[in-house]
Amino acid sequence: MLVFMRLHAMVRKRVNSWYYMNKKVHIKTYGCQMNVYDSVRMADVLAPAGYEETPLLEEADLVILNTCHIREKAAEKVYSELGRLRDFRKESGRGDMLIAVGGCVAQAEGEEMLRRAPYVDFVMGSQSYHELPRLVREARTKKGGGVALDFPQVQKFDLLPQESRAQGSAAFVAVQEGCDKFCTFCVVPYTRGAEYSRPHADIMREVRDLVENKGAIEVTLLGQNVNAYHGGVSLAGLIVQLAEIEGLERIRYTTSHPRDMRDDLLEAHRDIPKLMPYLHLPIQAGSDRILKAMNRKHTAAEYIETIEKLRALRLDMAFSGDFIVGFPGESDEDFEDTLRVVETVGYASAYSFKYSPRPGTPAADMEAQVPEEVKSERLSRLQALLNRQMQQFNESCVGREMEVILDRPGKHPGQLVGRSPYNQAVHVENAAHLAGKLVKLRITSASANSLGGELAQGAASEAA
Ligand code: SAH
Ligand code: SF4
Ligand code: F3S
Repeated sequence: MLVFMRLHAMVRKRVNSWYYMNKKVHIKTYGCQMNVYDSVRMADVLAPAGYEETPLLEEADLVILNTCHIREKAAEKVYSELGRLRDFRKESGRGDMLIAVGGCVAQAEGEEMLRRAPYVDFVMGSQSYHELPRLVREARTKKGGGVALDFPQVQKFDLLPQESRAQGSAAFVAVQEGCDKFCTFCVVPYTRGAEYSRPHADIMREVRDLVENKGAIEVTLLGQNVNAYHGGVSLAGLIVQLAEIEGLERIRYTTSHPRDMRDDLLEAHRDIPKLMPYLHLPIQAGSDRILKAMNRKHTAAEYIETIEKLRALRLDMAFSGDFIVGFPGESDEDFEDTLRVVETVGYASAYSFKYSPRPGTPAADMEAQVPEEVKSERLSRLQALLNRQMQQFNESCVGREMEVILDRPGKHPGQLVGRSPYNQAVHVENAAHLAGKLVKLRITSASANSLGGELAQGAASEAA
């Protein structure tokens, strides 16, 4: 009996080392910050199973594509990348390399994906990452075709390891996931499921750990509808509590929906200096008719009123937004309304897209789809205006003093690149000794995409 048990243990050890030990995982991330966060969590789940993350595809035993389904282009990219991976696996003689797909394309297409790309070893939805060790184990014994797509009863956050290995001065923390808004163009409610807020005590613990043990001085609270957060306190309540953590210098949150900008959150921008004076608040379109067809449930005037309230509460507030051009039925006049909103708000930054019909969403079946040429023409007009505004905003920063977290090395020796309160890249020379620090810079130059700065008076004590 004893001999048998020993033998069994030996075999198990061999098998474990065969499956797990000294393996490498390469994760390629597409899409939004939530996917970036999820990729870190995948690595966290795989670490105890013996997988170390690698930036090099060549040395990977497991490759995971963490995919995005938001627009057709994003989703199609996944299939071309999968084709390249299959060829790489064949040509490099790495027949044992596993190819896996996670994220929103996996969630949306599921088993269909295995039919289109049968060489994929397994697909897993965005709520199934805790299943990774099992999926990997099974993929090594069976030939291909693993699937994990459920929205489990237990929340994903409770199934993932408590602590993340994420390091660095700027950390991301998911506080909310999923969406119940059902904008008629959007796949997110289908790929991420119903809205869920994490209990605020869990978030406090995670952020404390990031600040005390992992070097974070900035935290961005993530959610598909982050301002709908309601995990025991409101988002404003959570921010108030987080602001008390010593050593945490900056708080951001993204993405917000205009309908959930409650007064306590607006006031938090006035009352909490650690909360950055910068807000990503997508409007998508400026015409009330189109907003209605999009099921956004607010008007352009209500959106502008929120912006004005925030500016009154905090003078240095700046905004970024998302726009969709060519939503079904969008006329020239509707589009002019979008340009008018942009003129009125004056954005510091923005993302704009051509409407992309997504299978299964109501807008994809609407009549009066806008021709591609019209979308392209509108997009270039909108982007020209937004680019001018971004340039103007950057120029308006010249001469100002700003606190910047110097978190990256620059192109030449001694140069560092950091981020301003408005998330602009700021370059500074001869500053190697300040790497990773929050310093006060005087902004001396501006281009379309970045700023240049020099150390302001008193910056040395600031940095200490
Ligand atoms: N939850 C966020 C945004 C999620 S998706 C919000 O409510 O604003 C990010 C952005 O992608 C959206 O703001 C929108 O501008 C764009 N987008 C979403 N679906 C799209 C589609 N079908 N076609 C083009 N752009 C889309
Ligand atoms: Fe998509 Fe609308 Fe939900 Fe944003 S609020 S994730 S755009 S459905
Ligand atoms: Fe894309 Fe999914 Fe994020 S569709 S934008 S990765 S929530």
